[in-house]
Amino acid sequence: MYLTRLEEEMLEGEMGEAVARAMSLLVALGEVFEAERLIEVESAHISGVSYKNLGEAGLEYLEEQAELGASVRIRATLNPAGMDLERWREMGVSPEFAEGQLRVIEAYRRMGVEATCTCTPYLIGHRPRAGSQIAWAESSAVAYVNSVLGARTNRETGPTALASAITGRAPLHGYRLEENRRPSIIVEVKTPLSSKFDYGALGYLIGEMAGRSVPYIRGLRGASIEQLKALSAAIATSGGVALYHIEGLTPEARRMSRHLEGLERIPVKPDSLGEVAERFQGAGEDAVICVGCPHCSLRELMEVARLLERRSGERLWAFTSRGVYMKAERLGIVKAIEEAGGRVYRDTCMVVAPLREMGWREVATNSFKAAHYLSSMGLTVQVAPLRELLGGGHED
Ligand code: F3S
Repeated sequence: MYLTRLEEEMLEGEMGEAVARAMSLLVALGEVFEAERLIEVESAHISGVSYKNLGEAGLEYLEEQAELGASVRIRATLNPAGMDLERWREMGVSPEFAEGQLRVIEAYRRMGVEATCTCTPYLIGHRPRAGSQIAWAESSAVAYVNSVLGARTNRETGPTALASAITGRAPLHGYRLEENRRPSIIVEVKTPLSSKFDYGALGYLIGEMAGRSVPYIRGLRGASIEQLKALSAAIATSGGVALYHIEGLTPEARRMSRHLEGLERIPVKPDSLGEVAERFQGAGEDAVICVGCPHCSLRELMEVARLLERRSGERLWAFTSRGVYMKAERLGIVKAIEEAGGRVYRDTCMVVAPLREMGWREVATNSFKAAHYLSSMGLTVQVAPLRELLGGGHED
């Protein structure tokens, strides 16, 4: 693989051991994917933050990197941790877990990574521009920034996104290349979608059918940010979709419509969405209701507060980013939810928090991604629109 002089110096350790290690990881990755060269990237989003997934080995790796003087060269934000960094006791997280988690965050901070602890950094100002090359992990965010914003990233892992943050480079392959952004399957939606829940169901269904291909989706008449967020999370969960195009809606769809000839067409029929939701119908009435996968937007928290005007939120936990929380707090939304008995936590989510260790067995959620992962962790799960979970109405 071709390296510039600067990149060779990085690899040879002239900028320190941490940079050399990061560069060596990227070069190895590039060789696996037969990349011709590295390219400069503008921003990174790093997963692998929860102490639940990292454990002691992951923590030691990060602390060692920080000790070696690793420091990010580009803007880098963090995915959710395993707990609210301040209200973890209230969540029922153990002091041992909290200690490990806080050390993880401290190691990232020492490297200059912004401890945003959210999977929706694009809602709080880390919003890559169309056409920009970036290195993002977190499958839901990858699908969103690739498809909805038109930025270019592969599905990075925590270590590769961190290596890109430290070097400002990534191997040129995959979705960074125009030819790999072309659609490889056409999905024809033949049923009207009315809610965010429907978009989640559609994403889950398409992900299963599309695997790792690039779907070109027809038949949608418009979508809100929240609907596209739900679609992106679900489509990346049931399959490996990292990029999709929606006719008339996403930025590259018009350009990509030149490459549709001869592609397989898959219809989504009216009954299909309901059938997907039927798969997660296990939890009973005592289940904890979790919203915020991906992290809630301000509008979603407002919706939760509105629904709780006439219902108890005692079993409801909402997850969001610090940036959105601060706005919601100023507007009295957090207070309204918590006075109704609900909880609003930052920095974490129902999937990366140690729920089983906290004694949870049953969860109800409006997120297909959360339902998928929680059920694979052995929890009993129900998926339904939020209004139904809270006992009334149809859609959210
Ligand atoms: Fe985000 Fe956690 Fe869901 S990281 S996308 S809320 S699984």
